[in-house]
Formats: sequence, C-alpha cells, structure tokens
Amino acid sequence: MAVRLVQRCCRQLFGGSTFAPLAIPASLLAPASKTVIARALPQAALASLHTSSLSRQTDKLSVKEQVYSQYPELREIDELIEAASSPEDLLHVAEHHSLKGNQASAVVIQLSRLVMEKKLETESILQDTRFQQVLKVLNSQLSQVWNSALLPLLKSLYLLGLERHKRELRSVMQEMRWRLRRLNFRQIASLAEYMATIEQVEDQNELLSDVVKHLELRWTEIGDTRAVVTLMVKVGHLSQTLMDRLEDKALEFAEQFTAEDIRKVALALALQNRRSVPLLRAISYHLVQKHFILSTSILVDLAFAYGKLNFHQTQVFQKMASDLHSRVPEMAHGDVGRCIKSFAYLKWLNLPLFEAFAQYILDNADRFTVLQLCNIILSFARLNFQPSRSENFYNMIHEKLGNQLGSLDPHLLTDLVWSLCVLQQAKTPYLQSVLARPFYSQLLDDQTPRGQNYRLKLMHINAAARLECPGYQGPFLPPEALSATEPPGDRKATPLQSSLQEVLNVVAKDEVNRRFNVHTVYGWQLDAEMMLNGDNQPLPVKDFAASHLLQSEGTKPPPHGTRRIAFLRWEFPNFSSRSKDLLGRFAMARRQLQAAGFLIVDVPYYEFLELKSEWQKAAYLKDKMNKAVGAEMAK
Ligand SMILES: *[C@@H]1O[C@H](CO)[C@@H](O)[C@H](O)[C@H]1NC(C)=O
Repeated sequence: MAVRLVQRCCRQLFGGSTFAPLAIPASLLAPASKTVIARALPQAALASLHTSSLSRQTDKLSVKEQVYSQYPELREIDELIEAASSPEDLLHVAEHHSLKGNQASAVVIQLSRLVMEKKLETESILQDTRFQQVLKVLNSQLSQVWNSALLPLLKSLYLLGLERHKRELRSVMQEMRWRLRRLNFRQIASLAEYMATIEQVEDQNELLSDVVKHLELRWTEIGDTRAVVTLMVKVGHLSQTLMDRLEDKALEFAEQFTAEDIRKVALALALQNRRSVPLLRAISYHLVQKHFILSTSILVDLAFAYGKLNFHQTQVFQKMASDLHSRVPEMAHGDVGRCIKSFAYLKWLNLPLFEAFAQYILDNADRFTVLQLCNIILSFARLNFQPSRSENFYNMIHEKLGNQLGSLDPHLLTDLVWSLCVLQQAKTPYLQSVLARPFYSQLLDDQTPRGQNYRLKLMHINAAARLECPGYQGPFLPPEALSATEPPGDRKATPLQSSLQEVLNVVAKDEVNRRFNVHTVYGWQLDAEMMLNGDNQPLPVKDFAASHLLQSEGTKPPPHGTRRIAFLRWEFPNFSSRSKDLLGRFAMARRQLQAAGFLIVDVPYYEFLELKSEWQKAAYLKDKMNKAVGAEMAK
C-alpha cells in the first residue's frame, strides 16, 4: 500500500519525468518473493524488456520493507495519508500517529502534490510545527526511506520551498550520496536529470558530481534510447568522459531513434559543440532512410545543429529543403530567419527554398525586426543569393533599414553595408554612414584580429564606393587606412597555392615579370599579378606605376595597350557547398578587381589540381590568359 501510495503520488507529481523508477508492481511486493525476483532478473533479460515494463523494474527492497507491509496498523496510516485531500488533513495524520521514516516521506511527497495541484502557498506549511515534526522524523529515520522514494522526496522538499541550507535537505542528499551504489541505473539517471536542472549550491554540486561519476562507471547499464538521449541533453555537458560514452551508446541505439530523439541528440551535440562525426553520420543516415515526417520545428532545429557543427550532409539538406519548401508560407518568421542563417553557415544554397524565403520576407516584412532583416541580408550576401524579384525585395529592405542605420551597433552596420555591397545594393547613404571619419576611426583603432577583419571590410566597402558606385562623391577612406596587415600566423601554402606559383614562374619566364601575394588597396589579395604588352609578352611589373598598390616601387606609366592580369586561386572553401558558385565575398572580390581594370584568370582547385604535369598546368594558364585577353578585345 505504502509503495503504491508513493508511486501514485510520484507519478502524479512527476509524471513528466523521463525515468519512472517508482512504479513497482504489487506482485513484486509479495513478501517472500521480492528480493528473489530482483536478484533473479539478469541485466540482459531486463534490457530486452519493453521500455514501459522496464520502468517497472524494482529496486531491491530491503527486508525491513517486507516486514513493514505485514503490520496492519501501519497500513492504516498509509491509507490515511493517501486519502488526505488537504495539507491540513495530512498534518492532522502526522500529529496523531507516530510515523515511520517512510511515512514521513510519504507525507512530504503527498503535501507537495497537493500544493502543486491546488497551487497553494507553502509558507504556512513550512512554519507549521507539525510539519517540522515530520521533518524531524524524516531526518532521524532517513535510512529507512526506500530508494525509490528518495528522489521524489528530494523534489518535494524543493517544491515546498525548503531553504537550500536546511539540514533536512542536506541529509537527504547525503543519504543519496551514500546509497548511490545501491540505486538502480534509472534512479541514478533520474537523479542526474533532476540535479542538472536545479540551481546548484555546494552540497548539490557534490551529489551531482558523485552521480556523474557513477554514470561514467555504469554507462553500460543504459538500456534504452530515452535514457541515452535524456542524459546527453541534461548531463552530457558535465563530463567529457560521460559524453564520450553516451555518444557510443547513442550510436548503438541510433537505429531506434525517433525523429524527436534525433532532434534532441543533434541539439545536444550542437550546444556542447561536439562534432561527433560517426554519430552525426548515423543520425543523418537514419533521417534519410526512414522517411520520417519531420515537423517544421524539428527541421529548424536540425538545420541549426548541422550549421552550428558545420556538418555537411547533402542528402539531409535536400530532405530539409524539400520538406520545408511547401511549408514556408505557414512558417513563423523567426524560424524563417533561423533557417536562412543556418543554411548560410553551411554555405548551402537551395534556390527554390531561398526564393520561397525571399517571397515570405516580402509578404511578411512587418513581422521582422530590424536586426532580423540585417541578419537575412548578411546571410544572402554570404551565399551571394539574389532574389528573383530583387527590385521589390530591396525596396522593402531600404524602406525598413534606410532610416535605422544610426541605431545599429557599429559592427553590425559595417556588416550590413558590406553585405549590401556584395549584393550590389549599397546606396550612397549606406556608404556614407561607414566611410565617415568619426565612424570608421573607432573601428580602425581596434588591433585585434576582429578589428583587422573589420578593417578589411571597410576597405572592401571603400573599393565598392570607388569602383562600383559611379554617382558616389565621397567620403572615402584616407590612404593610411588602406593597408591591410598580413593575417596573423604564416599559414602554410596550400597545394594549389604552391603549385600555381611554381607554374607561374615558368609562364612568366623571369621573376621580374610577376608578383606574388599582392595586397591591393581594395582589401583583396591577388595570388599573382602579371602585365602583358600588346603582343601578349610579359612586362617587368615592378617597373610600372600601380594604382592598386599603396606604395608601388615603379613609377613608369604602363605603355599603351598593356594589360594587367590577376590570378585568383579558388579553393574548396571559396565556393558554396556542392557547387561551382563563389560565395558572396569572393564574387565581390572578383567583380571589384575586374572593375579596377584587371583581367581575371580564375584558377579553381577542381580544374587545376586535376592536371598532372607542370607542362599541362602551364598550358592551362597560358590558355586562360589568352582567353581573358581575347574576351577583353571582343568587348
Ligand atoms: C579562397 O579561400 C582561401 C581559404 O579560405 C583564401 O586563402 C583565399 O584567399 C581565397 N581566394 C581568394 C581569391 O580570395
């Protein structure tokens, strides 16, 4: 009876808890048999039981408990506790009977249930001397409280608002620490889950860290997906070792994951920044294979998780896109913004989906905040995505953002204007807002890597103003702002980079005829530069004046008919995922350099690295140079 009482209270009280360690079937309570049953059930057999019956696995009940249920007068008290319908009833029972530890715990649990159900104030209960008496009994007979009641008791004490430093609360935790070894895995897991969600003070930290240590040792006992998923979500972040184990377990259970499990696991990995490739592969596989119907919110979360972990899985992305596409009109505007951002992180542009997003933004413009619209522009620019109804779209953007520029954080404003430059939509007021001295000087003072990055962006914006906005009259950045420092740490040359340089040395015939790693005043770096005369013969680049350099060694004006060639090496990261389309940043670089008068020779990795011999590579470059010159002449 007492068992059922406790279990019923607890189920009502904590029905939402993932682990239900409290449901003990009455049959297991038959006095003589129960310890036998508990011992006789081997772990493997338990593990093979269905989850719901597993949750009924009892903890080993002590001999005391067997004896206990044979005393009818004790049962009577249990019944009274169970029947009580108000705190007053309960406290009355407590006053007129002498309670055992377990009953005191049942009173507390029942009290908290009533408080919760009826939304009662707890102040008067806590101050009631009868309640304090119950706590006293509890404190002195804690060792008799059953394993299965300890956690509900702890939760109840919290719920009743007992002060954190109260002796009774600390004793319960101490008792739990002592008994950890005797608790079954579900109980420990539930405890971990609960402890991880409440605010920690010192004692609790000790209990929690003990619990985590136990989980680290006993992880092999995890018997179902819910346990592994919940532990990952709730306590994985507390221990790397534990999370490693949980990931192994998750891999084992991945096949049984529901879509919701997959969402939780993916989010847990993302929030803990754990890029567990085998596990991400496994969940991706099942996501695609099982043809789950994924809710929009799951799709949004998955996009976030894959984005955060920078994990590319084209089939999953395609599924996301096709699932989302038809639902875009019904999506919440926040979810639209989040999806766009996640896909931009992933450098993954699905045109139909993005068209649908753009249409949605146009139709629901008023729902978006200025910040959300800025982030959308940043994402579109990263992917170099131009909506097909771009005029309407940008009119809306200018209307919404145009008069807000002054209110934006300086870094965000710079990002916004830079992005509009990428998308070729930066009008004069945008450019002026960042190219005015008071504005840019605060950014240029910043010597950190972040500051360097913004200095480059300002240079790009300045270049856009000079090269791509014919009507723009100024202001511009002053010369002293146009030198970019080398990015910190000398990065090792990539295979493409070193191979390109080797071959160019051959093509240029003499090293005076080429420059490598040229820093331009536009903020872009050329991998190499050459000059060709009217007969397509290389000229000594260093002899001539060069307006793209801050300081040029040469002063001679280039002869009539001279062409400048910029060699741009395009590596895998310069492209959007699974495509030969440059990301916005690089598309802008190419465009601006062209506007500055260079003929561009693109050297994409997927062509150049395919060529085997140096001879082939040289022929490839010469051919591209000829074509660039030919195209120029055809204009
Ligand atoms: C392409 O990306 C690589 C690596 O991110 C970078 O070093 C290189 O400068 C980029 N190419 C160009 C032409 O900007």
